[in-house]
Amino acid sequence: MAKLVVQGKKRLEGKLQVHGAKNSVLPILAAGLLSKGCVIHNCPQLTDVDAACDILEYLGAKTKREGDTIAIQPQDSGNCCIPDELMRRMRSSIVFLGAIIARCGHARLSMPGGCELGPRPIDLHLGALERLGVKIEEDHGYLNCTAPKGLAGAVIPLPFPSVGATENIMIAASLAKGETVIKNAAREPEISDLADFLCACGAKVQMGRNGDICVQGVPALGEAEHTVISDRIAAATYLSAAAATGGDITLAGICTEHLSAVLPCFEEMGCSVWQKADEIRLKAPDRLHALRCIRTMPYPGFPTDAQSPLMAAACVADGSSMFIENIFESRYKQVPELLRMGADIKVEGRVALVHGVPELHSAQVRCTDLRGGAAIVIAALAAQGQSEILEIGHIDRGYERLEESLSSVGAAIRRVH
Ligand code: UD1
Repeated sequence: MAKLVVQGKKRLEGKLQVHGAKNSVLPILAAGLLSKGCVIHNCPQLTDVDAACDILEYLGAKTKREGDTIAIQPQDSGNCCIPDELMRRMRSSIVFLGAIIARCGHARLSMPGGCELGPRPIDLHLGALERLGVKIEEDHGYLNCTAPKGLAGAVIPLPFPSVGATENIMIAASLAKGETVIKNAAREPEISDLADFLCACGAKVQMGRNGDICVQGVPALGEAEHTVISDRIAAATYLSAAAATGGDITLAGICTEHLSAVLPCFEEMGCSVWQKADEIRLKAPDRLHALRCIRTMPYPGFPTDAQSPLMAAACVADGSSMFIENIFESRYKQVPELLRMGADIKVEGRVALVHGVPELHSAQVRCTDLRGGAAIVIAALAAQGQSEILEIGHIDRGYERLEESLSSVGAAIRRVH
């Protein structure tokens, strides 16, 4: 099994290009199943993206990757089910459900199990699809979904602005009869990116200012070419790494507006931040200041995915920082590993209190989940000595060749097989 070996205490310095957003490309690939053929640029090379392409192939679409561009050519016939093995390879494969039902009128998916962030229910996805006319039955760990009369537009109020549920509804409603209004829809930039892709294919999706999304169903989608937005969470991760190592880095190819809840946190920690249209430069002080309180919230609030990378930086700040996780139940899995490196963190339920320590030390640690794994890498970059990081498959799900990016800005990090 591969591992990362990190020699800590190297200051990050230089310029990095941020790859395309994982959380955009996955629903866009799912929606591509409904197109007459599409070309998607800025697709990061990630194992989750490979898994999504394998699902598309299984469903009867041809996919071809050239560099960061993926072309999808759906075929006239194909499977309408996703077997257990493929569902398990990618946590968010539930996002294919709306596309399969819209295409075939029925779908059979193995139930997604729990995941490393705690139970990951899909009740909002299923309740919304039922409103669009889908009948859902559970059968020995599989979901059988049928739309005997086809999909019909509906008003769908979401009790919580779930990102995945909003995406599934947008995709399915694109081909439903009539109008669908999603109330209290998620507003993440990845949702707007999916809307742009669907519209490029000929769908009629409007993002209302009041948080509603309105979809007018059309009989069929056409061909499209689209460029995925850049990954705001990868950007937040690199900025956290620069902050934790007293570094000075510039990120290129990003949308600074997508980071508007994150950048003030770095300023609060004493970093200087300069923004241009699609670039950010962050220069960290020798010693970071603590953060008062980070509360994760739906967009435009502070993103839950950036919580653990920032926590790693807070471990080496002067003073105590508080984190309140409001999105997922179990998102402090990285904490026991950070404690092994000498961090001082107390967790009680949704609250984590981080007391900054003068220095972290090296250790053999393991990745617990994607963003927790990134936090552990950041801690190792800041720590004294050589750390070994195991179970790095989690990291490859969401960061394109993380060790190469970090090495290019001065980190001493290598992958060992
Ligand atoms: C997406 C992102 C993930 C990010 C999350 C929140 C992708 C591939 N993943 O995940 O990186 O951390 O948004 O920004 O885009 N919930 C329910 N019932 C449901 C659906 C969700 O109770 O049917 C709960 C979840 O358990 C969680 C919360 O709602 O506590 C947020 O989930 P959701 O917004 O759906 O996140 P994902 O789409 O899974």
